[in-house]
Amino acid sequence: MATDASRDIDDLMAENRKFPPPKDFVKNTLVAGTFLYDEANEDYESFWARQAAELVSWDTPWDTICEWNLPFAKWFVGGKLNVSYNCLDRHVLAGNGDRKAILWEGEPGDTRVLTYAELLDEVCKFANALKSLGVERGDRVNIYLPMIPEAAVAMLACARIGAAHSVVFGGFSAQALADRINDASAKVLITADGGYRRGEVFPLKPQADEAVANTTSIEHVVVVKRGGNAVSMTPGRDHWYHDLMSGASNDCPAEPMDSEQLLFLLYTSGTTGKPKGIMHTTGGYLTHVTYTHKYVFDLHPEKDVYWCTADVGWVTGHSYIVYGPLANGATQVMYEGVPNFPANDRIWSIVEKYKVSIFYTAPTAIRTYMKWGIEEPAKHDLSSLRLLGSVGEPINPEAWIWYQENIGGGRCPIVDTWWQTETGGIMISPLPGATTTKPGSATFPIPGVHAEVVNDAGEPITHGGGYLTLTHPWPGMLRGIWGDPQRYKDTYWSTYEGKYFAGDGAKLDADGYLWLLGRVDDVMNVSGHRISTTEVESALVSHPSVAEAAVVGAKDDQTGQAIIAYVTLRGGATVDETDLRNHVAKEIGAIAKPKAVYFTPDLPKTRSGKIMRRLLRDVAEGRNLGDTTTLADQSVVAELQARAADHSED
Ligand code: WTA
Repeated sequence: MATDASRDIDDLMAENRKFPPPKDFVKNTLVAGTFLYDEANEDYESFWARQAAELVSWDTPWDTICEWNLPFAKWFVGGKLNVSYNCLDRHVLAGNGDRKAILWEGEPGDTRVLTYAELLDEVCKFANALKSLGVERGDRVNIYLPMIPEAAVAMLACARIGAAHSVVFGGFSAQALADRINDASAKVLITADGGYRRGEVFPLKPQADEAVANTTSIEHVVVVKRGGNAVSMTPGRDHWYHDLMSGASNDCPAEPMDSEQLLFLLYTSGTTGKPKGIMHTTGGYLTHVTYTHKYVFDLHPEKDVYWCTADVGWVTGHSYIVYGPLANGATQVMYEGVPNFPANDRIWSIVEKYKVSIFYTAPTAIRTYMKWGIEEPAKHDLSSLRLLGSVGEPINPEAWIWYQENIGGGRCPIVDTWWQTETGGIMISPLPGATTTKPGSATFPIPGVHAEVVNDAGEPITHGGGYLTLTHPWPGMLRGIWGDPQRYKDTYWSTYEGKYFAGDGAKLDADGYLWLLGRVDDVMNVSGHRISTTEVESALVSHPSVAEAAVVGAKDDQTGQAIIAYVTLRGGATVDETDLRNHVAKEIGAIAKPKAVYFTPDLPKTRSGKIMRRLLRDVAEGRNLGDTTTLADQSVVAELQARAADHSED
């Protein structure tokens, strides 16, 4: 290996299993073959313009497809449209008002079904309610709700009247909510009394009250009744959702909005620093999510039942529960609760009950299901499934294979979709009827998207490890960070000149397939080799006893950093530390052999399910923990710290 190349991330793991699109799948797929890629390669702007014209309804056509003043983009400039019209009215006008839009399942087992006509009615009424509270075009509205249909109603009602929403995940604290309200200067907060989680009601309104006490911009609070828990209502400020709705008219014509009108802010904290209010606008974003939802999920809206298990508090919930699926007229399942209530087979019971055909979830969930064992999915008829998706983290090849065999019954293609809050929609993914997949690879940029893996110097490489960059603007791209254009430039556009740097390591294999290697902040440096956490974790997960693994580089006198592994075993399995260390050495080489392996029932994760390696590094180096506010379960790290202390006393 050239010494120079060793500064980049090493490429250690080779995965050669290949899965062409199953023949039965290809028979009815929207895209077999390369025609979309060919068209996009010819002229990507015209390609996107065709998607915008075909998939989205415009009140006024655009004059310019894309205006690009690096790093600021505008798409479909001069065009006018309404997002809620695209998600609702046009389906009703086309005669599909009776089609089911949302099949909602509450955690306790209660259910609601909303057709497109009913959803339109709700959205119009709530849009009028918001107007009656003084919300106007250009205002910001905060949403802090459980996974109930009102979350989608609230978002679409904002879009209908041109107010930007800022959704804050219901699991965040009062302080996190207050910070986000203040940054956005939101006028109205929409919340609920509480929601269900693990069989109990978790209160939201008290947190909302505490947050509002620390803000000055909120004039009104709307409260949806869901948990039935007692709440205090401040007269004049607080309003029950059902009271507002009972007096509201359902006549609220969708007003045309400028293509670049702010549709929403979504705060992302990344690993450090003040959360960033990521800005997404109207025409380009809607085009991107509608196009990707249709072609990546091969959606047949008249037949498919789609289910994305994300929460609306994350970008996946925005793009692939609310805007993409509804713009495409899809029928989808929405589930309120956790996957293990009342038992570990809840997800599979829902798939069976609603005959879900397209299922989109996260690797962290898949690894949890692996831990719970194949008996759980085996209790249910999952034969309705025809396509599986993954998002949020690199999916380890073994988790991919497990998903493919035990959930997909060997017949469903898997789309591993790479994207970010900042990209708005899917960027790198197979097209399920066209792409031969490899377990663990997100494969190729979708038609219309341009990605390059570059070395430290920013030069494109054709094979081996490096950094993932995006080289051309795309319709769903973030338009900036709310209130901080300089931070936008510095964060995303300053590492490699003229390119968007996503913060992820990636490699290209000999066939040109793209593999995500995890966040570059997590890359380890062992004796001068830059080793990706993802590859070592995948090697660990390829051991039949292992369900999940996280590795970090901890300071080491000899090697600079030493690899420390935290491992969760599959249900009932046992294995000893030496076997696992040797297994990694065999899979990817002695250089990547962990120095120590700790067994743990759980790993520290963010509330959106990403492993928090930074905390594990603190634990491994015996440091006090830094900021833990984004941690989902505080007890996990305390236990790991206790074990580390025990270990060092041994
Ligand atoms: C990671 C979620 C590997 C990546 C939509 C990215 C992935 C970050 C994948 C964005 C994938 C997402 N393979 N890594 N298929 N999808 N990531 O903003 O590190 O919550 O930068 O958006 O998740 O996370 P975010």
